[in-house]
Amino acid sequence: MADQADNKKLWGGRFNEPTNELVEAFTESVSFDARLYRHDIQGSIAHSQMLAKIGVLTEEEADAIKAGLLNLQTEIENGDFSWSAALEDVHMNIEAHLSEAIGEAGKKLHTGRSRNDQVATDIRLYLREATDDCIALIKALQAELLEFAGREVNTILPGFTHLQVAQPISFAHHLLAWNEMLERDAERLADGRKRINVMPLGSAALAGTSFPLDRDYTCELLGFERPARNSLDAVSDRDFLIEFNSAASLIMMHLSRMCEEIILWASENYKFIDIGDAFCTGSSIMPQKKNPDIAELIRGKSGRVIGNLQALLVLMKSQPLAYNRDNQEDKQPIFDTVDTLTTSLRVFAAMLPSIKTNREAMYQAALQGYATATDLAEYLVRRGVPFRDAHEIVGSTVNFAIENKVPLADLSLQQLQEFGSMIDEDVFEVLSLEGSLNSRDHFGGTAPVQVAAALAAALARLSNDQT
Ligand code: ARG
Repeated sequence: MADQADNKKLWGGRFNEPTNELVEAFTESVSFDARLYRHDIQGSIAHSQMLAKIGVLTEEEADAIKAGLLNLQTEIENGDFSWSAALEDVHMNIEAHLSEAIGEAGKKLHTGRSRNDQVATDIRLYLREATDDCIALIKALQAELLEFAGREVNTILPGFTHLQVAQPISFAHHLLAWNEMLERDAERLADGRKRINVMPLGSAALAGTSFPLDRDYTCELLGFERPARNSLDAVSDRDFLIEFNSAASLIMMHLSRMCEEIILWASENYKFIDIGDAFCTGSSIMPQKKNPDIAELIRGKSGRVIGNLQALLVLMKSQPLAYNRDNQEDKQPIFDTVDTLTTSLRVFAAMLPSIKTNREAMYQAALQGYATATDLAEYLVRRGVPFRDAHEIVGSTVNFAIENKVPLADLSLQQLQEFGSMIDEDVFEVLSLEGSLNSRDHFGGTAPVQVAAALAAALARLSNDQT
C-alpha cells in the first residue's frame, strides 16, 4: 500500500506535531479490531447507499465506494492488505485504503458519520452473528445430548445430593437436566439478541448529524430491527455486550458443571463412563493414565469468560456520557468470550458421542448407598405410619443393615418386621431400584415412562426451534 494511506492521520488537520511513538502503540486497536473488517465494510456500504438515496452522494460515487470496499474485502481475505498501526483502527485503515484506491468518492464515505457510531454498529453486527452461531452450537449440542439420553432411559444410577448417594434415578433423567440448562441458555441468547439488533448509525459522534439521513433505510439494509432512539446512548453504552457475556458466563458455568460430573464419573472410583481415547490425553510420566483433559479445560476456561464479564462491567461503570475511548477495551474480552464459548460448545458436542456408559457400575453404585430408604419410608406412610415416625423407623433399619453390611433389599421379612410390624411381603417391590424408579411416576419425575415422555417433548421443542 502507498505511503499516504499508511502514514497520514485522518484526523491530523488540527495537529502540528507527530504522534509520540509510545502513544501510537498504546492507542492502536487495529491489531485486534481488524477482525471486524467484514462488519465495518458491510456498515459502510449500507451507509453510502443511504447517502446516495438522500442525494448526498451520487449513484456513481456510491457504486464506486461499494466496489472499492468489496475489493478491499477480497484483499484482506487474501492477506494482501497491509494493516497499519499508524492508522489506529480497522475503521481508519479501511477508509484510508479506500480513498487511496478510488480517490474523491472514498473521502465522502464518512459524511454524516463518526467512528463512534461506526464502531458501535460494527460490534453489534459482529455480536448479532456471534449470537446466532452460539445458539446454533447449543442446539447441535442438545441434539447430541438427546441422542445420548435416548439410549439411557432405563439405565439406573444413584442420584446424589451433597455428593452422597440419595435416590436411584434414570441416567436419561440426569442428561435431560443438562438439556434444560442448555435450553434456557439458548433462550437467554435469543432474548439478548433483540437488544443487540438496534442500529447506532445516524448518532454520529454523540449528537446526531445535520445531514437528513434516512436511518430507516440504513436499518433495512443492515437487517436491524430499528434505529437507536437516542444518539448519546447509542454511541456510549455497551450493555448489550455485557448481557451477551453474562449469558456466555452462564453457559460456561453450566458446561463446567457438566464437565465436573463427567470427570467424576470417568474416575477410577466411579467408573460410570469411559470417554473415547480421541477425547482424552495421557501422562508423560504415568503410563497407565488416561485423563479427561477436555472436560477439565472447559471447566477451566469458564474462568476466562467469567473474568471477561468482570472486565466489561468495570470498563463501563464509571463512564460519563457519551463515547469515551475506554470502550475500545471492550473488543479483546468479547472476542475472547466468543472464541472460548464457541470452541467449548463444539468440543463438548464432539466428545459426547465418544462416551460409553458402564451400566453395571452405575447399577452397583445405586445398590450400595441405601438409595431406596425413602421408598421404604413412603411405603410405611401408605400403611398409615406418620411420615416422621416412618423416617425414624427406616433410620434404625438402615443402621442395622449398615452394621450387617447388607443392602436393604437383602434383609429378610422377619428382620424388617422387627422395625415395623406393618411391613409385608410386598415391601420388596419398593426396595428394588426398578420399583423405586417406577413409583416416581409424575410429570418431572424419574419413572422411565415419564423420562421417555420428557425426552420426546424435548426433541419436539428442539426440532420446532430449528425450523
Ligand atoms: N477504535 C475505537 C474504538 O474501538 C473507535 C472509535 C474511536 N473514536 C474516537 N473518537 N477516538 O472504540
